[in-house]
Amino acid sequence: MEVDTESTKRQIEDLQEQLHRQEKMASLGLLSAGIAHEIQNPLNFVINFSKMSIKLLEDMKDILEDCSDKLGEDDAADLQDISADLQENLSKILEHGERAISIIRGILLVSRGKENEFLPTDICKLVKEYVWLSYHAMRANQKNFNISIHETYEEGLPPIMVIPQDLSRAVLNVMNNACYAVWKKSQTAEAAYQPEVNISVKTADGNVIISIADNGEGMTDEVKQRLYENFFTTKPVGQGTGLGMAITRDIIEDKHQGHLTFESEEGKGTTFVFTIPIKK
Ligand SMILES: Nc1ncnc2c1ncn2[C@@H]1O[C@H](COP(=O)(O)OP(=O)(O)OP(=O)(O)O)[C@@H](O)[C@H]1O
Ligand SMILES: [Mg+2]
Repeated sequence: MEVDTESTKRQIEDLQEQLHRQEKMASLGLLSAGIAHEIQNPLNFVINFSKMSIKLLEDMKDILEDCSDKLGEDDAADLQDISADLQENLSKILEHGERAISIIRGILLVSRGKENEFLPTDICKLVKEYVWLSYHAMRANQKNFNISIHETYEEGLPPIMVIPQDLSRAVLNVMNNACYAVWKKSQTAEAAYQPEVNISVKTADGNVIISIADNGEGMTDEVKQRLYENFFTTKPVGQGTGLGMAITRDIIEDKHQGHLTFESEEGKGTTFVFTIPIKK
């Protein structure tokens, strides 16, 4: 009897541990979030050390220039070539490290929270958070580029039932596109051009209406027609996957039973509007 109780106890413990392990494994979202989080740290090392090395290399180039008279002409030229190559390699490491970090951030964003769960959400706060996240991401890449963001949020909006992780992804996608569109236009526009994005959140007729308007490059008729196609992008290779708007439409129209509409004029700008019915 004594032995039996002992072995049953052990069996229960084993099962409990198994259950515990399965619970841990069950949520792929949580798992990938964990991995993503773990990868972030070594990637930060890659990024920081390559930045530091770029800086050191610049110092070294200065020193080389100062003592170029002490070197033979060939040696000086060789050293210059090598340091140029090193600089290029380091920039590549930095660029791709940063790209990897942004992919990881995407995974973290998607896997945060339970999937497809409608939760009472402060929409204004959510929109604000992701608008500025997108802005800071853009600023991290284009240090000497700036845009003005104007925000209008309806006051006293009660929490609204949405899938926050999806809605934030949609806001981020559209805001990223808006930032890109104004940046793109600034590359060719006259000096007086003021890049601008207008954000508004309000309610009307039982809907919450989120609008993101940019005064960027706008869309041609072809782009307007193909906007929601999977993998349709006009961005250079490596910069866009062409999935942002397809995912956004899925989030707004299929998951939230809302409407996604846009108006765009080539050279003038684009406005995207999410109209989401407020669930009782
Ligand atoms: N605000 C905008 N202004 C101008 N063009 C836009 C705007 N938003 C989208 N587009 C056009 O639609 C295309 C598809 O957008 P989408 O977000 O689906 O993909 P992407 O931005 O190219 O890549 P990613 O998958 O990284 O978002 C863009 O490449 C761009 O040509
Ligand atoms: Mg996009």
